[in-house]
Amino acid sequence: MTADKRGMHGIWSSRWTFILAATGSAVGLGNIWKFPYIAGENGGGAFVLVYLLCILTAGLPIMMAEVLLGRKARMSPIHTMERLTATAKAPRFFAGIGWMGAVAGFCILSFYSVIAGWTVYYAGKMATGAFSDIGGEQAGAIFGDLLADPQSLMLYHTIFMLLVGVVIARGVHRGLENAVRIMMPLLFIMLILLLGYSLTTPGFSQGFNFLFSFDFSKLSQESVVVALGHAFFTLSLGMGAIMAYGAYMPADASLGKTVLAVGILDTLVALAAGLVIFPIVFTNGLEPGAGPGLMFQTLPIAFGGLPGGVLIGTTFFVLVVIAAWSSAISIAEPAVAWCVEKGIGRGRSTFVVCALAWFLGIGTVFSFNDWSNNQFFVHVTPTAVEQADTRSVQLPSAEWFVYADVAELKLQYPSTESVSFQITGKTFFDVLDFLTANILLPLGGVLISLFAGWFLSRRSVADDARVNNAAIFEIWRFMIRFVSPVAVLFVFIHGIL
Ligand code: TRP
Repeated sequence: MTADKRGMHGIWSSRWTFILAATGSAVGLGNIWKFPYIAGENGGGAFVLVYLLCILTAGLPIMMAEVLLGRKARMSPIHTMERLTATAKAPRFFAGIGWMGAVAGFCILSFYSVIAGWTVYYAGKMATGAFSDIGGEQAGAIFGDLLADPQSLMLYHTIFMLLVGVVIARGVHRGLENAVRIMMPLLFIMLILLLGYSLTTPGFSQGFNFLFSFDFSKLSQESVVVALGHAFFTLSLGMGAIMAYGAYMPADASLGKTVLAVGILDTLVALAAGLVIFPIVFTNGLEPGAGPGLMFQTLPIAFGGLPGGVLIGTTFFVLVVIAAWSSAISIAEPAVAWCVEKGIGRGRSTFVVCALAWFLGIGTVFSFNDWSNNQFFVHVTPTAVEQADTRSVQLPSAEWFVYADVAELKLQYPSTESVSFQITGKTFFDVLDFLTANILLPLGGVLISLFAGWFLSRRSVADDARVNNAAIFEIWRFMIRFVSPVAVLFVFIHGIL
């Protein structure tokens, strides 16, 4: 094969290896940790429906586009977009897709590694049997203790980032192929086993209804943006991760089926995780909107109550670590591949990328303890307290600050008999999460779909996509030109305003 057909980073052994690697990238903390907790925070059913719609209308078509673009140029996303923009004579800003993706990648990797560190801690803690027969309160306390301790968080963040670096430095194929081939099927089996357990809990039907009964009154404007952002996050779209993997895809593999397989697997894992977690939530009287700790406060209860729970629980958390690991690798790969193309050795490139992300991760470590009160975009909303006599109360006006110390604000705005103040803001971690998932990834997705839909000729795209079924190709092309960009832009602009 010519160098151009293979690119300088090598090629996956087969279409299946690409499916495994892309699934390894897609299935991760997003499915098991993030999906259940944001579904819980956003009221369940209706949110899940919107999320599924976003996967169908934006996720799958854009994933196909990313693989196509990557395979066309066979380079890192930055160079891929620079080259394709030049040859297609498209406006120069499309070349910025790769750069924006690199920025998003650093931000995501930085907090992803911290959260993955929690799962490393839990794998170890499980093995000690610390969770045997515990209830909701103790599970919450163990999680709270972990978050309150920046030193432990830093330690596990560091361990995880080292794991990521080791595999990337060895090259994606050698390091990754074998890992995902064994671990992904194992993870699926474990989830099915857990599903069996949650079926036996008294809260199962309540958990099921929470996820699948669509109550649109619970759906806020922001929930829709979060659902869209999560569709990108969970499929690893919008920042070039899948584009980078597409660059290593064999030239003759068909895109339609491949992408569909990844999308279906990813969605099944997320729904399974939700179906495991929510029955436990309701059985134990926990709060579905508990936030980022949801998985860590529920699953240990299940394992604590299962026969052989120490072994099963430890295995499960090890598998989650591995799922997070194979995802984190794909987040770093675009930046590393770019450095390699610039002539920096693969080992050195890996070190630089991981070190930068590790450093940024310190902000996330402190978001859960020392800096939990240091928040951005803080809103102070006064609400009238219901009074026995109904004289109308003169409410002070709402205020907001770009940055504030929430502890001080609470002193400044003490709730009184007639007015209570609600103070909400975003920690450093929340800002990174919102900026990436809800702004940068959708924006990247819109640009990718516009580029693939409007600046590449039908003929060249048809040749590249290798979709055997003409109808599927037509549907995809229609989606990528009209449906995906409009849907994403609509949600996006509504949400931001
Ligand atoms: N999809 C992964 C998850 O759900 C995370 C991930 C990997 C990712 N690569 C990405 C998210 C690229 C955004 C962009 O855990």
